[in-house]
Order: sequence, then structure tokens, then C-alpha cells
Amino acid sequence: MLIDTHCHIQFKPLSDDVNGVIERAKKEGVNKLIVVGCDLESSKKAVDLAEKYDNIFAVVGIHPQDSKKLTDQMWNELCELATHKKVVAIGETGLDYFKEYSPKDTQKTVFKKHIKLALELDKPLVIHNRDADEDSLSILNELGAKKVVFHCYSSDVTFARKVWMSGYMTSFTGNITYPNAQNLRDVIEECPLSAMMVETDCPYLSPQKYRGGTNEPSYVVEVAKQISCTKNMSFSEVAEVTTKNAEGFFRIGG
Ligand code: NI
Repeated sequence: MLIDTHCHIQFKPLSDDVNGVIERAKKEGVNKLIVVGCDLESSKKAVDLAEKYDNIFAVVGIHPQDSKKLTDQMWNELCELATHKKVVAIGETGLDYFKEYSPKDTQKTVFKKHIKLALELDKPLVIHNRDADEDSLSILNELGAKKVVFHCYSSDVTFARKVWMSGYMTSFTGNITYPNAQNLRDVIEECPLSAMMVETDCPYLSPQKYRGGTNEPSYVVEVAKQISCTKNMSFSEVAEVTTKNAEGFFRIGG
């Protein structure tokens, strides 16, 4: 069994065929899905799906790209949503200095709000970090965040060591299967088994085998296969370890 710990099946085209997406995932042994919001709208949709399907759990938050659009009213609604029993984490939040659609200061302010909310509700944080390694980590450490995953880990191995030293998790997507992603496979090689989760980030980032097409939760199998190959472990061992980690991290065991 595998868990896709980060997907956006509330986005098109996946949202047009949610039943099919879930069925194809189950066929591949992908039995639980964590659906992540990027703004208020997609966070609400994630919660709707979690209410409808037993094996779906929601994460709610405002993506750093959209942080400049956040109003007080939106934040209040998000806080309310975050208390829902099937909301298992806060995110995706963090910092994105690559595109910088929102000013850095605004991103930092909104990121801190998310961290405080997560601490208040005792829920983990799902972090989007792009070209903002040092700031992301120092803000998390500063505010005392304990349960954190760096989703779609795409930084180097030196930074990964700092993430693991803080007791935080790293989760890997289909981009680890790309021919030019040796740097990410180097990270995987060193990644402690206890700090590793798998995800698709679908509909984005299709693994190499399906590149050019729409990504979906069933393809998380390709991520686990790559890890098994890179770490020289059996596929079932990778499945077992990453599932156990995800169940513990998001408290969705049993
Ligand atoms: Ni995402």
C-alpha cells in the first residue's frame, strides 16, 4: 500500500473524474490520498472531497504565490475550515522566491500566520519552498514548528541535512525520475528512512514514464519505484516505510 501525501485532484482535469482517479489509485494499491489546497477555494474543495470519501484527507492553506491576495475575511474562513476533523495539516504554505508573485515580506507574514495556526491546532505543516531555503527553515525553527514536511523536495543535499537535523520530513515527487535529476537522487540516497514520504503533486510533475500527460495519484508508484532503485531497497519496503511515516505524520493510521 502507498499513500499519495500531496495531490490536487480538486484541480482540472482530475476534478472531472474523481471516482475514476480514486479507482485507478486503489488498483495500484494507493489507498489514501491527501488533497492539498492552494487558496481558500481549493482548500474548501479539498474538505468537500474529504467529507465525501473515507480515504481522502484535506490540507488547507494559502500558497505563497497567492499570499498578497489574502484578506482578513479569507483568513478567518480558512481558520474555521482548519478545525475540521478531516483537515490533517496546514498548507501548502511557505516561501517562493523563484517567481516572487507576492513580495517577500508579504510571503513571510502569511507564512508565519500559517505556522502559528498549525501550532495552535496541533496540526503539521506542508511546506512549499522554492529558492528560499534559509528563510523557510529559519522561520520554522524560530517559531518552534515541530511537525513539518518539505513537499516536492527540490533543493540540494546540504540543505536536506539541515531539514532532517530539525526533525522535519522530506517528500518526493515524480521529478526524481527525470534523467537530469541526479541531484535529487543524491538526496534520496542519503535520506533517513524515517524522514521520507512520497507524493505526486498531481496534476503537475508527471513521472518520466508519463511525462507530457496529466499526472494522477496512481503514478505515485513510479516515485516509490525510483526510491527503491536509488536506495537499493525492495519496493514493498519503500511502500511500508513511507506509508508508516505518512500515517504517523498526518495521524491517519488504522
Ligand atoms: Ni502542490
